[in-house]
Amino acid sequence: MGKKQVESKLIKLGSNPEKHHGSLSDPIYKTSTIIFDNYKNFLKAKKDRFNLPYYGRFGNYTTKRFENIISQVYQSEASVVTSSGLSSITICLLSFLSKGDEVLVTENCYEPVFNFCSKELKKFGIKTHFFKNNNIIQLEKLLNKKTKVIYLESPGSLNFEVEDIEKVIKIAKKRKIITIIDNTWATFLGFNPLKWGIDVAIESCTKYFSGHSDNFCGIIACSKTNYQKIKQTAVRMGDFVSAESCSYAMRGLKTLFLRLKKHESNAMVIFKYLQKKDSVKKIFFLPDKNNPNHERWKKYFNNSNGLITFAIKRNGNIENFLDSLNLFKIGFSWGGYESLILPLNRIVPTNKNYMKRWYWFRIHIGLESTNDMIFDLEQGFNNYEKK
Ligand SMILES: Cc1ncc(COP(=O)(O)O)c(C=O)c1O
Repeated sequence: MGKKQVESKLIKLGSNPEKHHGSLSDPIYKTSTIIFDNYKNFLKAKKDRFNLPYYGRFGNYTTKRFENIISQVYQSEASVVTSSGLSSITICLLSFLSKGDEVLVTENCYEPVFNFCSKELKKFGIKTHFFKNNNIIQLEKLLNKKTKVIYLESPGSLNFEVEDIEKVIKIAKKRKIITIIDNTWATFLGFNPLKWGIDVAIESCTKYFSGHSDNFCGIIACSKTNYQKIKQTAVRMGDFVSAESCSYAMRGLKTLFLRLKKHESNAMVIFKYLQKKDSVKKIFFLPDKNNPNHERWKKYFNNSNGLITFAIKRNGNIENFLDSLNLFKIGFSWGGYESLILPLNRIVPTNKNYMKRWYWFRIHIGLESTNDMIFDLEQGFNNYEKK
């Protein structure tokens, strides 16, 4: 991306006014059919259909340009954009796994990944072993000749455990095992897995990247060789991402740097508030110096974000707590401008590690005033404590 500061580079990235009548933002190309000048060009496109304009589902000007931007931000040889973060993950797993293969998956992955591996991959004769974060001994024990992929998510969903990625890569490289990581938590701004030797980096652009809770898409950054495999699977599976989705994601990219900083600083204020509450029994927040993953997080990541998970005792009125919140809305996902709260009866899929006597919430700290957030939470806690 050149020598400028990243926030300057992101503003310039993908703007081509000279090609588009002076328009600072590129137009959205909506294409199913692409026509060819002549037979020779048709044959040429057919031969190189993942790279040249061929058929809309394979990509068009807008989606290809977005892929090119992803390659620039991840400094990767190639990139694939898919319809969602989850489709990026499932497409990548299917690209490298065949009948009889085995995959090692971090236990604290996003729950639908756990389900995909244990239910869908199983149908195709692919065996999944889930391993505990940072348990290299267990990881090595699970490896065998059939292991083709190690799948990581770091920090992990809900508990934000950080993997010692360097150690995993060393093991994988020695055995020529493909490594895939879900990098949604950090975004490319906070961590570039490819620089550490990970083969495939995935990000759900549904989250911070797009940032407005109105878009779905996923990105995959990888080498040219892996691109061929992944793109082939995406096309064969019929995955399709609209030009509008790519355009929304590119628009989100312009403010991503700024938004992340604000999510981060707002989350710090709310963390400090939660720390003082007697009802709060446990908090998972990586900038917390007492978090056992804090040092590993500092080793790998340049940023934090707006996610905090905390637990309260079950003896208060949980329903009162949730229903008296106005600013924190109950809802899935995260990474948009708004604050959200997700009630968690247990930390899935790693529930066995956490105290069942507590009730858990994952909150996403949005861009509102932290005074208003505290006022809202305070109201919730007051009503929770009322019998
Ligand atoms: C860590 C993580 N990865 C992937 C996904 C899936 O992304 P999408 O909703 O775009 O399919 C999610 C969604 O919540 C997520 O939290």
